[in-house]
Amino acid sequence: MTIIESERIILRDLVDQDIEIFYNYRSDDDLLKYQDFSVRSLEETQTFIQEQKTISIGQSNQWKQIGIALKDNQLIGDCAIQFTPEEIRIAEIGCTISREFHSKGYATEALRLLTKHTFKNYPIHKFKALVDIRNLPSQKMLLKVGFEKEAHFKKHYWDEKDKDWVDELQYGLLGQKIKD
Ligand SMILES: CC(C)(COP(=O)(O)OP(=O)(O)OC[C@H]1O[C@@H](n2cnc3c(N)ncnc32)[C@H](O)[C@@H]1OP(=O)(O)O)[C@@H](O)C(=O)NCCC(=O)NCCS
Repeated sequence: MTIIESERIILRDLVDQDIEIFYNYRSDDDLLKYQDFSVRSLEETQTFIQEQKTISIGQSNQWKQIGIALKDNQLIGDCAIQFTPEEIRIAEIGCTISREFHSKGYATEALRLLTKHTFKNYPIHKFKALVDIRNLPSQKMLLKVGFEKEAHFKKHYWDEKDKDWVDELQYGLLGQKIKD
């Protein structure tokens, strides 16, 4: 189901036809080095997409993974949104784009669409995003969408791959800012 679209991209539910592409970029260790969600096989991907079909935006305690597709419906990445369990008027967001489509503005465009759509249709007050301090593309993307850096947590999470504590930044986007 299409959630929202712009001239270049469609945000839509993940479907069975996406399994191979989703698996390819979601098992790319280099691409996902600052993230903790990956899939390890086509079977796991299939199960994940099946589960996602039953989840909708705003469902409590659940991350909704939304496909980002070109206008010909080809999947190029995904964004994820969760209304935080501790405060459902604050939503957390993330985004991943397959390597071959980087630096074309697709992530920025997808997050702009999704944040506007969510502010308009749900009682959301604020978005937040947590970013590994080494993840410069993600920080640039969030600033371009309109997020502001709000916090710097020192040695805040354990990077299992690097076996070290890493600094984490928190970015925020207020609904008020979008309406202004
Ligand atoms: C972060 C990410 C989604 C950005 O996707 P994208 O479609 O390439 O982003 P955009 O094209 O919208 O570009 C946003 C900004 O990031 C910059 N950027 C993109 N890739 C970059 C890179 N490898 N190095 C430095 N800057 C980069 C772009 O230049 C742009 O800034 P500019 O317009 O000032 O030049 C993508 O790099 C990615 O999938 N990373 C892996 C997953 C991840 O870590 N996600 C973040 C967790 S939420």
